[in-house]
This record gives sequence, C-alpha cells and structure tokens, in this order.
Amino acid sequence: MASFDVIVIGGGPGGYVCAIHCAQLGLKVACVEGRETLGGTCLNVGCIPSKALLNSTHHLHEVHENFEKMGLMGANPTVDWSKMKAYKQDVVDGNTKGIEFLFKKNKVTWLKGWGSIPEAGKVKVGDEVHEAKNIVIASGSVPASLPGVEVDEKIVVTSTGALALDKIPETMVVIGAGVIGLEMGSVYSRLGAKVTVVEYLDAITPGMDAEVAKSFQKILSKQGFDFILGAAVSGVKVDGGKATVTYKLKKGDKEETVTADTVLVATGRKPFVYGLGLEALGVEMEQRGQIKTDAHFQTSVKGVYAIGDAIVGPMLAHKAEDEGMAVAEILAGKHGHVNYDVIPGVIYTTPEVASVGKTEEQLKAEGRAYKVGKFPFMGNARAKAIFQAEGFVKLIADKATDRILGCHIIGPGAGDLIHEVCVAMEFGASAQDLALTCHAHPTYSEAVREAALACGTGAIHA
Ligand code: NAI
Repeated sequence: MASFDVIVIGGGPGGYVCAIHCAQLGLKVACVEGRETLGGTCLNVGCIPSKALLNSTHHLHEVHENFEKMGLMGANPTVDWSKMKAYKQDVVDGNTKGIEFLFKKNKVTWLKGWGSIPEAGKVKVGDEVHEAKNIVIASGSVPASLPGVEVDEKIVVTSTGALALDKIPETMVVIGAGVIGLEMGSVYSRLGAKVTVVEYLDAITPGMDAEVAKSFQKILSKQGFDFILGAAVSGVKVDGGKATVTYKLKKGDKEETVTADTVLVATGRKPFVYGLGLEALGVEMEQRGQIKTDAHFQTSVKGVYAIGDAIVGPMLAHKAEDEGMAVAEILAGKHGHVNYDVIPGVIYTTPEVASVGKTEEQLKAEGRAYKVGKFPFMGNARAKAIFQAEGFVKLIADKATDRILGCHIIGPGAGDLIHEVCVAMEFGASAQDLALTCHAHPTYSEAVREAALACGTGAIHA
C-alpha cells in the first residue's frame, strides 16, 4: 500500500493533465489507468487517431481535386490502407508514450489497472489498496448504445471500430450527424466510400449556429455526402456481410431502409462510471448518468472529486483538461476556475468548423439585443489561393456595448482562428478591439478581423 495526496482515476486528457498539474503544485500524486497506454479515449481511439486519418485523406482529396489546378500534373497516389492505419498508430504511440514520459518527468506514479473506491480516502487497483487524501474521478465516457442496434465493431461500428476497419467500405451509413459522424464520414468519403448520414433532427451538428450548419451541410453534400434528415433509426440488421438500417421519417409513417457495407453508430457518448463503486460509496448522480459535483468539482462524498466526460457539460478533451487543471489548483489550496462561457468547439473536417460562445439562436431565445458581423472567405486572398473560400466568419457582439458574445467560423484553419476570439472574450473585449488589432496579411485570420469590422463601420473586402 502506498499513500498519496491525490489519486486520479483515469489517464485521459482530464486525468493526466490533473495529475501532472498536481505534481507541479507539489502534491504527491498517482494516476490509475487500466489501458495498456495513457491518454484515454482521446489519444488512443478518439481525437488523435481520427486527426491522423483526416490528415492523410485530406491530402488524398487535394491530389484528386486541386493538384491539377495548381499545375501539379500526373500524380495519382493509391491508398495502402494498412500503411495508413500504421501511420495513424505511430501518431497514437508517439503521443501516448509522450504522456508516459511526462509522468516520469513530473514524478507522477502510474498505477496500472482499473481503480475503484472502496471508501473515501482509499483506491483499490487490482488487489492493492492505496491511500489518498483526495481522489479525482476522471473516468471519461463510452459510446452510447442505440436500442435495436447491436455493435460488432466489424460491420456495425462505433468510432473505435471505425478507426480500424479491415478494409475501406464501398458504402457506409453513419447514424447521427454529430461531430464523430461527420469527421469519420469525411475520412471514408475521401477514401471513396459512398457515405449516407441518417440524422434524427432536421439539421446537422445539433447546437451549432444554424447558418453555419446549413452551409456545412451544403459543402459536405458537394463533397459527396447524402443526408437523410428528420429520420429516427429504429434498428440495424446484419445479413450476408452487409447491414441494413431501418428508419422512420418524421414526415411520414412508413419505415424505410438503407443498406451499406459498414454502419457507424455515432449517436453520442455516455459517462463511463461503472465498476468504480460509486453506488456503495453513496456518490450522488445526475438524472442523465453523470456524477453530480458542486462548483468546486467535489462530489457528494467529501474528498472525492470528478471532472471531464464523467460530469455535466460538453464532452470535449479540452473542457476535461481545464477542469483537471482547476481541480489540481483547488486541491493545492488555490483558486481553480473554468470559464464555461468560453469553451471552443471544433470539427476537423475540410473546411474546419469552429465556434465559441453564444449562437444567434441562443441569444434570440434569451431575448438579448445583438449585432452580427459576417465576412465570407471569398474576400480572403489566402483562402482563395487554397480553394477554400466557401465559408465565412460570423462574429456576434452585444448591440449596446459591442462586447463579443460569440463567434462561428466555417473555413480554412477555423479550429485555430477561433482562439483569438476566445482570448478576446476572456479579456472582455469588444468587436472594435479585434477590429483595431493589426492582423498580418495575407492570413486567414484577416477574415476574423473583417467580421469584427463588419460589426462596426463595415468590412473592407466585402
Ligand atoms: P453528438 O451528440 O455530437 O451527435 C449525435 C447525433 O446523433 C445527434 O445529431 C443526434 O440527433 C443523432 N441521433 C441520436 N439518436 C439518433 C437516432 N436514433 N437516429 C438518428 N439520429 C440520431 O455525438 P457524437 O458525434 O457521437 O460525439 C460524441 C461526443 O464526442 C460529443 O460530445 C462530441 O462533442 C465529442 N467529440 C468531439 C470531437 C471534437 O471536438 N472534434 C470529435 C469527436 C467526438
């Protein structure tokens, strides 16, 4: 048995960041992780491997769509799927080993195995029980199941299986037009699969600014996606190596079907809180299965904290990381804080989609007076040079004070561009503050400044 100031359960972005920051703040810390490698879903079977596949298939798309236009003739690379998967795995391995290195560097003890909490102040890993003044649960999430759909991770897959298919399917049905469905759908669409997305709602990417969602759907349709919207999937049947998805359109009674080589179920994730002993410990849960916490991330049991996908809020790695940092500060006797009003969301398709803060729809519902500054990438020289001038930047500011309330971008580098707006929002900036900031020419970021200008006297290049 060993004794620690803090034991973190879970080595994903929330947990490992929390553990490292605890160590930086002088606490004796251990992190429990049952996988063979650190990094959780994000590094092993989520954000990172999907970005590797999005990168290689983006280049493939560029070869086919844009090389000739740029005077690059005759290139015709073929896809070696095994090699592409090996590249993806190399990227994953490099990153997971990187976390192991950071643990050693910061003297974080990795307790290998699955942890449970037999009582407050104790964590059981395998047969050993360790002591901790405080425990942080960062156990993450797993794909939510869909009634009538049995996942075999071969033909009917979650995001995990979708990263490791034996072969590239000719046809794929994606259930759910959320982030996972559209990112992984993009990968296979670019690899030549005919991708059909079946979505329950009448628009893709729920919660996103409606104008961005509409434009995004149009662009994806042009790239070859088929969308069946307003359709509730009721089941999937596998027969003869193919899967048939049954759905019912909201406008109409009859059941319809669509058949494909692979079906990706991407209808959301749920907190992974099983086997931790939470019920016996008396930890209160939210109605939707998350661990209930107070404003300081403490659960209903003193000395037991929880962060990340296991608690309420967007299931995003960076939200978990920020909570991990904040809880480490709190446990070190400082003031940890997460500003939930400024958490960016990014979809890593081409073009990228990114947003932060309020959407117009939210502001309307709240009855707030706002103004919108919009700038199309068509007026941005850099975007035009790379054939990605379809999107726009939409900046929303308070009508009276000009304070920035939100930003929604679809276009090149959106996932990076959004952060200048995040910083501006953290500092309580106005649209004019952004508009008066010099932006290098020619960069995509000029489109953000132009949107800020459009909130005032008007954009220059539109
Ligand atoms: P999601 O919640 O983003 O989207 C699920 C979609 O499935 C929704 O549009 C929903 O209306 C639809 N749906 C649900 N039941 C359905 C049914 N029976 N028939 C048809 N459609 C149905 O969930 P997703 O994409 O699985 O992602 C899970 C989590 O992982 C999300 O919280 C997401 O933010 C996160 N994630 C974030 C990434 C990023 O930041 N780039 C990448 C991948 C995942």
